[in-house]
Amino acid sequence: MQPFLTASWKQTFRRRLKSWYARQARDLPWRRTHDPYRIWVSEIMLQQTQVKTVIPYYERFCKAFPTLRDLAEASEAEVLQLWEGLGYYRRGRQLHAAAIQVQADLGGVLPNSRKELQRLPGIGRYTAAAILSFAFDQAEPILEANTIRLLARLAALRSDVSTSHSQKTLWSLSENLIPRKHTGQFNQALMDLGSLVCTPKSPSCEVCPVADLCLARQKNLTADIPVMRSRQTLEKIREALVVICRKQRFLIRQCGPNERWSGLWDFPRMRLDQKKPSAVAAQIVDGVRDLTGYTVAPGNRIKTLTHGVTRYHITLECYAATIASSRRKQGDRTPHRWVRAGDLSGVPLSVTGRKIARHLAAHPGLET
Ligand code: ADE
Repeated sequence: MQPFLTASWKQTFRRRLKSWYARQARDLPWRRTHDPYRIWVSEIMLQQTQVKTVIPYYERFCKAFPTLRDLAEASEAEVLQLWEGLGYYRRGRQLHAAAIQVQADLGGVLPNSRKELQRLPGIGRYTAAAILSFAFDQAEPILEANTIRLLARLAALRSDVSTSHSQKTLWSLSENLIPRKHTGQFNQALMDLGSLVCTPKSPSCEVCPVADLCLARQKNLTADIPVMRSRQTLEKIREALVVICRKQRFLIRQCGPNERWSGLWDFPRMRLDQKKPSAVAAQIVDGVRDLTGYTVAPGNRIKTLTHGVTRYHITLECYAATIASSRRKQGDRTPHRWVRAGDLSGVPLSVTGRKIARHLAAHPGLET
């Protein structure tokens, strides 16, 4: 085995990786372009989301907004509608805000320096480096989930990869490994090797082109690296979603800036901490009044959904309700609308909101 990270070790590593990538590279839509705007869109979508989920979203998004200018001129609702189902909506809002900023302040041209890119909302060190190396072939190192795992194993890094000390070590390793030329291709190859071969569970070391350079393999530590901080257990909570119908239209409201789905539309939804049916009904009445000003009479439970959001495991109890009083309480609230079930498809909704919208479209008997 060659001593780790010497000039000849690096030469061997790069040569093997290049030849492996020539045979095994994934054909991904954002690799068929050098347009920094499209690469940026793909990298934002790929944060916390798997490649196969992102592909159709990326394609629809680029069709709707082929250029940065098209995105800057779109409304936030149009952007969020195309983001619907991808989750982490803040990414879409920040992408849109950054496009508006680039169009207004930088003549519509994405900067080609890391410092300037990182000034834009939603662009951190990784995303800036990905744009610069993939679009402009600048010699910038990258570090994301796949490369973190690969590099941690290569170097047999035994400390928790999320600590700032480990991150420093990994960034400097990535920096040390990149070639001066064709850095974009090298970085994509690193990612693919991490994703296809150096997998989280049971990595395929037998087909890995750099297995004999890997310190974790040499020390029989591949199953123990990367070391990750143990995940917090999810906190269980209950929420109610209230389907209020009047004259065949359903009440939806826009989520405010400090809410989980800021900018998206949703059925009135609130936390439940009571168990007794009468106490649940009272919480629903209070919750709907706070959010919309309407006073409702809660009815039957029509569906129960479970889903996870950040550190919560949520049981969402969905209740039907009717309007109990024609008077609406005044207050400073986010916009609301009364929409027919068939028209909900044109409104950007939360994932569970969309499930309920589909349920309503399929069960016309719920309209009153
Ligand atoms: N994960 C993050 N960025 C990626 C990319 N450009 N290709 C594949 N997987 C990725």
